[in-house]
Amino acid sequence: FDDVVQHVSTGALEHDRIDALLQEAHERYADADEGLLAHYIPILGQADPDLFGIAMSHVGGSVHTVGDCDYQFSIQSISKMFVYALVVQEHGREEVRERIGVNNTGMSFNSVMAVELNNGHPMNPMVNAGAIATTAMMPGKTAAKKWENVREGLSAFAGRPLTLDDEVYHSESLANERNKALGRLLKSYGRLENDPHDAVDVYTKQCSLNVTAHDLAVMGATLADGGVNPVTGKRVVDADVCRDTLATVASNGLYERSGEWLFEIGIPAKSGVSGGIVAVAPGKGAIGAFSPPLDMAGNSVRAQLAIGQLSRAMGLNLF
Ligand code: DON
Repeated sequence: FDDVVQHVSTGALEHDRIDALLQEAHERYADADEGLLAHYIPILGQADPDLFGIAMSHVGGSVHTVGDCDYQFSIQSISKMFVYALVVQEHGREEVRERIGVNNTGMSFNSVMAVELNNGHPMNPMVNAGAIATTAMMPGKTAAKKWENVREGLSAFAGRPLTLDDEVYHSESLANERNKALGRLLKSYGRLENDPHDAVDVYTKQCSLNVTAHDLAVMGATLADGGVNPVTGKRVVDADVCRDTLATVASNGLYERSGEWLFEIGIPAKSGVSGGIVAVAPGKGAIGAFSPPLDMAGNSVRAQLAIGQLSRAMGLNLF
């Protein structure tokens, strides 16, 4: 998208151009054929690589869509940013900063070495170790109660009841030895209070919640809107929780590629291995994009390209 004129952020979105710009980005990248499916979770390896949807939700409450925006897919790692927001809301920023951290590991999302090199500290809530430790901090005495609170909390962000994709949950539960290892490693360092298996199980369930690109846009726009869901009008978290969540997402959301993303695109974004990305323009809105083929860091190729073009064309870059 080097040929797309880089507009500078003006503080407002030009509403009447959103549909045309989404359409343009979709047409332009629908045939991009790079990227691989996430075969390490068997069922994700069977996804249709041609699926492609882009949605944008404005803080004023309007939602614009193009392509496969009603197709349901598992949220995967995008759940991490919303669970983090719920946990910061519950425990406060300082406790969560101390226990989970905010700095990039510079390593892949499921790195064991990153934990070892940091004396068992999970480093940040967007990598698997940090996300497992964050989920363990969800309110609820039992794993079942924590899961209920995760599902209800993420549903409030989406503005509709989200449901578990059983097939994904079972497929991932049979293939998540590495996450179980991360859970045990964190426990061995005294970084988890409860049973590590329970924490990983709730984390696996949260990753298996079904969403659409439309949902992702509304969930992101809730963070852009200072914690009020722009469609339902209900407050989900406080405004300062949104600020802290978006800062953490900006530095870690695209893992070891977060710096390059911020340099090129200039807005916080979080990816998931099923092919979703949500990118948030504070005070304006959010883009939810979905297409299954991924780059080597686990980020959807088409979603990155589409959001990149839209950020330039709409002047979303914060810097
Ligand atoms: O724990 C896992 O490996 C997956 N449930 C989620 C990983 C993920 O989405 C990484 N993102 N790009």
